[in-house]
Amino acid sequence: MTNSKKETWGSRMGLILAMAGSAVGLGNFLRFPAQAIQNGGGAFIIPYLTCFVLMGIPLLYVEWGMGRYGGKSGQHSTPFMFGALDKRFFWKYLGVFGIFTNLAVAAYYCYIESWTLSWAYHSAAGHFLGQTQGQVAAFFNTYVGLGTSEPVMFWIFCLVLNTWILSRGLKGGVEMAAKIGMPMLLLLGVILAIRGVTLSAGSHGAIYDGVIGLNYLWQPNFSSIWDPVVWRNAAGQIFFTLSLGMGSIHCYASYVKSKDDIALNAMSAGWMNEFVEVVLGSAIIIPIAVGYLGVDKVVQMTKGGSGFGIGFMTLPYLFAQWGPALSAMAGVMWFGLLFFAGITSSLAMGTPCMAFMEDNFRWGRTKAAWTFGAAVLLLGIPCVLSQEAFGEFDYWVGTISLVIFAMAEIILFAWVFGMEKGWKEITRGADIKVPIAFKYIIKYVTPLFLLVVFFGSLPEIWATLTKKITGAVLFARILMVALFAAISGLVYVANKKKVAL
Ligand code: PHE
Repeated sequence: MTNSKKETWGSRMGLILAMAGSAVGLGNFLRFPAQAIQNGGGAFIIPYLTCFVLMGIPLLYVEWGMGRYGGKSGQHSTPFMFGALDKRFFWKYLGVFGIFTNLAVAAYYCYIESWTLSWAYHSAAGHFLGQTQGQVAAFFNTYVGLGTSEPVMFWIFCLVLNTWILSRGLKGGVEMAAKIGMPMLLLLGVILAIRGVTLSAGSHGAIYDGVIGLNYLWQPNFSSIWDPVVWRNAAGQIFFTLSLGMGSIHCYASYVKSKDDIALNAMSAGWMNEFVEVVLGSAIIIPIAVGYLGVDKVVQMTKGGSGFGIGFMTLPYLFAQWGPALSAMAGVMWFGLLFFAGITSSLAMGTPCMAFMEDNFRWGRTKAAWTFGAAVLLLGIPCVLSQEAFGEFDYWVGTISLVIFAMAEIILFAWVFGMEKGWKEITRGADIKVPIAFKYIIKYVTPLFLLVVFFGSLPEIWATLTKKITGAVLFARILMVALFAAISGLVYVANKKKVAL
């Protein structure tokens, strides 16, 4: 028996925290507020919540269901998990996305995760005190421009830490990290959110009350409900934040025993993510930044929708207005929060790749973990060196391939494997009654929704592909294609071995 087959979760709480930890990530605290502001505040929330119900929840059920089903036949990663649902060869290659995306997202995600450590250190040391906004921004630009060796050191430290935790296995590593990281994150998040919401005009130089920012977000506004771009962005955020269309949920769920509940687990982890995102994620950056700068300025600063600028440049500057002790505390809490959010997510990106090697090539856990670390290091180099390469990775793997993978899996599950069998998989051992409506939503509504999102993005994909590109972008694209081909090659070899047995 390989390692991966022997692994299980230590407790139900541990599993839910690990799943929630995978979902709650940088996406909740940086990307969500930036996306919400960019897409019109209150106008974004309606499409966002609609996407959560019609796409997020159904896909959570499907991915948990597929995962537990695959685990039964000893498969913990998507290529052969897809293969277990239908024998035709091409499913295994579509399943490659479930490893590819994890590796390629980890390539840039771990790098940002490492920034949070550096910023926590500089906040604690009081380095942002007395700096102008321009100076804090210059610090960021020098950092990402590799003006010093510090980014590389923090990055490597962060990769080694991830690898070490992964090499300790599911129970002793991933689950332990989630049990420490998630409560810490919630605590820090609540404290900062209270600070954000209670920020009042006139104190520490704030111009507006913090709630002005919250009102902008929560005042329903139907103006953009017909704008396809807002819908596409809302769908993209739901995917990213719930870690859908990646293969990581499948992997965690594959270690659940076949009679144990998945329905309630899926909802617990999913709703915990939504709580953290819409309650905590919206109550920190937005009220604080709007309190000092006003809505219009914040809209300008979140262009691009990643939230990096506001999270790493503006917030440390605003904290510095609170005086030495408070600003150090706020900085350490904010970047500490981002770190815990980040690491419990990047660990989830490691497990499918490791499981694939353990299941199919009889690798041990330690070897698999260090190979993952080395692969992320190599793939990350272009992202560290060039922001263009970084953006390219994020676009193709953090946005497009999630949708492609999700379309493939829902067709496979609901139409090829069949919704009757699929429904049994989802509801077996369930500790809640899953509303029967989801049977039909999964079969008809979600696939249609995904098709619309995908076809709606085709013009943009085409425009991206035909745009003149730089060497860095070309290199990033070649690297991604090579990675996909390499994993497909491994699937081919593993499949041959299985057939020969
Ligand atoms: N959901 C994470 C976030 O919001 C990102 C992530 C994607 C994590 C894929 C694991 C797998 O930041």
